[in-house]
Amino acid sequence: MTDDLDQLRAETERTLAAAADLRAWDAVRVGVLGRNGTLTALLKQLGAVPAGQRRERGAALNRLKDTLAALIEARRAELEDAAFAARLAAERIDPTLPPRPLPAGLIHPVSRTMEEMAAIFGAMGFAVAEGPDVESDWHNFGALNIPAHHPARADHDTFYLPPAAADAPPPVLRTHTSPVQVRTMLHQPPPIRVVVMGRTYRADHDATHSPMFHQLEGLAIDRDLTLGHLKGCLIDFLRSFFGIANLPVRFRSSYFPFTEPSMEVDIGWNRRTGELGGGGDWLEILGSGMVHAKVLANCGIDPAVWQGFAFGMGVERVTMLKHGIPDLRPFYDSDIRWLHHYGTSPLLPALLHEGV
Ligand code: DAH
Repeated sequence: MTDDLDQLRAETERTLAAAADLRAWDAVRVGVLGRNGTLTALLKQLGAVPAGQRRERGAALNRLKDTLAALIEARRAELEDAAFAARLAAERIDPTLPPRPLPAGLIHPVSRTMEEMAAIFGAMGFAVAEGPDVESDWHNFGALNIPAHHPARADHDTFYLPPAAADAPPPVLRTHTSPVQVRTMLHQPPPIRVVVMGRTYRADHDATHSPMFHQLEGLAIDRDLTLGHLKGCLIDFLRSFFGIANLPVRFRSSYFPFTEPSMEVDIGWNRRTGELGGGGDWLEILGSGMVHAKVLANCGIDPAVWQGFAFGMGVERVTMLKHGIPDLRPFYDSDIRWLHHYGTSPLLPALLHEGV
């Protein structure tokens, strides 16, 4: 007589197992335990059972009800766990993926060149010195052995600023970084080894000249520095900066008021292709010389004891040569396309082209 109960249990187990989700599970639950459920119907029929069997039948039905409720509950937990696991799988994220690159700035080629210059000269024992953009006439010219009316002044298309007094010489926007030589010598006792990288100004504007540009200046003062030291220092710098181990370097006699003797320095290149190194042609790249005794004396240094060398070059000019940049003007246009092309990532080089 419990056959029908066993059957109901087996049937419920089967349909529960077949219920693939909570909705199907609920249909099974209602179908068995609900108001019109199969077990509920059996309980309702209890009254019709003959009195002698009713007690036993009732107890069996109640046991079955507990068993089925437990089975149904267990299946619900199972399905909920499965649904949760499925959701976790569907919403899975990979925390090991690298993040999207943030928009990052790029280092301007002038800044990069100046960093390279500081690194190369730093390795040779030079410190970095600075000076103001607005200079006195004396720092920019006089102390450097360029007195008023000296013809060398005509080489510098100087921007003059309003003078402090009617009879005072007007201050200038420095036309070169050489006044920082003067400031350094006035400021610190020799021996001296400094490089200066900074803005300079001349009233000149075309494809190769800008009213504002940058120079690198160098100054070394010691008891027995010679032209040989100057040559070795500049040859090492040029070969290191351009990354050409056997770059031809030529020293050519020249004139600057603040050095004696003075030399212009040429590097070997191919005029036709623009390639640096071989090619048989020469390209002027910087000015240099032994610091003039008058300049040392003007800065309070005894030229009978101390001597040294100095040099100066255009930062944009060597940057253009090194990277094959044909025009000077875009250096200051803030054109993001130009910067993307010639700029350098401050982070990993790999990030450079990843949408920054
Ligand atoms: N001041 C020079 C210029 O602007 C460059 C220069 C030449 C600097 C020779 C020096 C030097 O220190 O020794 O054209």
